[in-house]
Amino acid sequence: MNSVDSQQRVLSGMRPTGRLHLGHYHGVIKNWIKLQHEYECFLFVADWHALTTDYDNPQTIEAHVWDMVIDWLAAGVSPSAATLFIQSKVPEHAELHLLLSMMTPLGWLERVPSYKDMQENLREKDLDTYGFLGYPLLQSADILIYRAGSVPVGADQVAHVELTREVARRFNYLYGREPDFVELAEEAVKKMGKKGAKLYSSLRKSYQEEGDQEALLKAQALLKEQQNITLGDRERLFGYIEGSGKMILPEPQALLTEAAKMPGLDGRKMSKSYNNIISLREVDDDIMQKLKTMPTDPARVRLSDPGDPDKCPVWQFHQVYSDESMCTWVKEGCLSAGIGCLECKKPVIDAVVAELRPIKEKARQFEENPSSVRAIIAEGTEKARDVAKETLDDVRQAMGLNYR
Ligand code: TRP
Ligand code: SF4
Repeated sequence: MNSVDSQQRVLSGMRPTGRLHLGHYHGVIKNWIKLQHEYECFLFVADWHALTTDYDNPQTIEAHVWDMVIDWLAAGVSPSAATLFIQSKVPEHAELHLLLSMMTPLGWLERVPSYKDMQENLREKDLDTYGFLGYPLLQSADILIYRAGSVPVGADQVAHVELTREVARRFNYLYGREPDFVELAEEAVKKMGKKGAKLYSSLRKSYQEEGDQEALLKAQALLKEQQNITLGDRERLFGYIEGSGKMILPEPQALLTEAAKMPGLDGRKMSKSYNNIISLREVDDDIMQKLKTMPTDPARVRLSDPGDPDKCPVWQFHQVYSDESMCTWVKEGCLSAGIGCLECKKPVIDAVVAELRPIKEKARQFEENPSSVRAIIAEGTEKARDVAKETLDDVRQAMGLNYR
């Protein structure tokens, strides 16, 4: 696969945190569900990443893996649209991680902002480990092994995708340089035919001399159309446009997921550790109980006190669940003390109950049939491995490790 095709490939992973909640659903999973129909998606459980922080309690990971996969499936992530797998079942990630670790400067990892932040946030845990420092590099291997063009992540993960780009660039620079690269590339140009060769050369010149991005895209599109050149030549020609070596590992882009509009019950980010979640498998009585008791604008002590929706987490729920006329009803009723808070919450309760009903039903079916879940993952893992092996072959070849 060349780097233009790889733009169409999306990869994302989630650490196995167990059952998912509405924050995951509205913040991440719904986005995946949309992307799975627009791109070739590889979605996986990052169980090795869980070990970087939970190395002292690995026994809990397994249950979390399956609970999370069931929730993905129940929420609508589709195994016929996306490839679903578990990181540790594709050991190629580990080999690529190891090989990348040889050429990754320590400073690049120490400077990743999440490194010091996490260590400080998880003070009670000793995170002065080799594995934890390597967390973002393992993530780079996850991405690069599929030559993914886009990586949907939240803002906190953008630095990891940025590191991945630097690692890919360094890899291509170090190992994409065949001794006779320029001659081989010029030979390959000729194989495009007179017209193609001329166009390629002039686009390459515009890009290299004037940084013309348009020309870069056009040259890449031109290469994509070529039918008579080998994969090796294609990679050479991709790299040659930009003046580097052969493009073995394309640089991915972060596809920034907009911040979740859905807060937790207390208005902070929804998170298990804040105890403010509604899980995707929450029973109806608990949904009702939790929403009925959730805090509202603290200034509304009595029914006759007007409130301000902007100071109330219930309003944010309405923005997720309610149409325009309902939102107007809330706004006006709240500001004028025309409606009570329980009255205001009622449509939200109904919407959450209705939203989760089919999800819970599907989750129940998967729970009752764990072998179907295992089969989905086995199939996805096999597909993922085929792709991963191909990349790893090219990587070994580029590094001179393909001897027998
Ligand atoms: N680090 C990511 C997170 O905490 C999970 C992850 C691991 C990931 N590997 C990845 C995300 C590769 C995107 C791509 O959310
Ligand atoms: Fe919040 Fe609705 Fe009560 Fe206003 S009326 S404070 S928006 S719950």
